[in-house]
Amino acid sequence: MSNFDVILRGGLIIDGSGESGRQADLGIKDDRIASIETSITGKCEREIDVSGLTLAPGFIDVHTHDDRALMSAPAMLPKLTQGVTTVVIGNCGISLAPLVTESIVAPLDLIAEEGWLRYPSFSAYLNELEKTEPAVNVVSLIGHTTLRMNVMDDLNRPANESECEQMKALVDEAMRAGAWGLSTGTFYPPARAAPTEEIIAIGAPLSRYGGLYATHMRNEAEHVMDSLDETFLIGRQLGVRVVISHHKLAGLAHHGRSVETLAHIQAAMHTQPVSLDCYPYNASSTMLHPDLIERASSVLVAWSTAHPEFAGKLLKDVAETWACDERTAALRLAPAGAIYFIMDEEDVRRILAFEHTMVGSDGLPHDAHPHPRLWGTFPRVLGHYSRDVGLFPLEEAIRKMTGLPASQFGLQQRGLLRPGYFADIVAFDHNSVIDAATFEKPTTPATGIQYVFVNGKLSLGSGACDARTGRVLRGPGWM
Ligand code: ZN
Ligand code: CU
Repeated sequence: MSNFDVILRGGLIIDGSGESGRQADLGIKDDRIASIETSITGKCEREIDVSGLTLAPGFIDVHTHDDRALMSAPAMLPKLTQGVTTVVIGNCGISLAPLVTESIVAPLDLIAEEGWLRYPSFSAYLNELEKTEPAVNVVSLIGHTTLRMNVMDDLNRPANESECEQMKALVDEAMRAGAWGLSTGTFYPPARAAPTEEIIAIGAPLSRYGGLYATHMRNEAEHVMDSLDETFLIGRQLGVRVVISHHKLAGLAHHGRSVETLAHIQAAMHTQPVSLDCYPYNASSTMLHPDLIERASSVLVAWSTAHPEFAGKLLKDVAETWACDERTAALRLAPAGAIYFIMDEEDVRRILAFEHTMVGSDGLPHDAHPHPRLWGTFPRVLGHYSRDVGLFPLEEAIRKMTGLPASQFGLQQRGLLRPGYFADIVAFDHNSVIDAATFEKPTTPATGIQYVFVNGKLSLGSGACDARTGRVLRGPGWM
């Protein structure tokens, strides 16, 4: 009988709390961290020399669209290769469940494809997800847009009372099945007509179970302050934490306004729980829509069902090929996705450096030519923004990806390196860690991530995926 399954020897332990690191050994037994000591004695099955490497809690990607990828590509290499061990799915108002339909309305096509809208209940989805044994842990949100598609014949109007009642019942079922909260994407056409009251009405079960409310806000440009106020109001009315997803300022006219928005967010934090996340790039990515192209200095096609051959090409060049304007080209490419260069680098840095900001990739795993954030987000924060640019110390970068999100989402015994906590661990080389995915070559794996453990099992080491030991984490309403 050995005391440990694995001992990691001599790494620099940065525990995720923001405290500075210390050299120590770390012992793993079953799915837990069993010991952290200057020098561990005792028997073990396997020893790994991690001297020269930094050990951190596995990263938590708080904003993803991995709902289908977890099942269609359960090895989850875009995430594991970044050191991510937990993903939050169901963001921006879109989740795969509950919904049974053949017609896939944008932006649901960012995650769904034919045959995938087949889960009559949230629990049916989570149970199948569990059976698939994905490589990373999963925290799930219910998508408001998905709910609307269940109960409304016409999405271009507010839901009536009986439709709100039905959606509320679906939220209740999902919370009891283990969802962690509700997400909205009132930015997008199929949810745009939903007034604040509709969201408050259907969100009642969040208050009952202690769920949270995450939102891709109605507006991230001229009306951003109103959108923040709407978000705060919903949080106060429901008495729940709000998460402002991928906070950004879109369009040249609004560059620099993060000074204003962050002050407003900070002020709201005095009276209610508010969280926010961002991805470390100055380009966004979502469905290709003619109304969105004007704000961008340039637009890159990420995928197109009508013309897949144009994935990876600039919209400007596609328009030139067809001798038409960009709006017309966008309409011809649809259904399609795009990358929009719309943010100010200074805003990105200011938001990322804000002490309450968590890191979320917002990666789109099914795009033919995805935004590089899918494969690069976490190493980019560590290597580029923390080490090279010096935006904040390494301990702070790690806290934003581990301890902070675990405490805000209420993930029990995760997010810190502590004895008794789940052994979600990443070992990386601080001198070489860096994102390698670019806008030209977006699926290049990052470098410098050496070992990743998920629930005590080595899941990434010498580049290969060995285990799929992620778990479906059930939220506060689960029983
Ligand atoms: Zn979004
Ligand atoms: Cu998103």
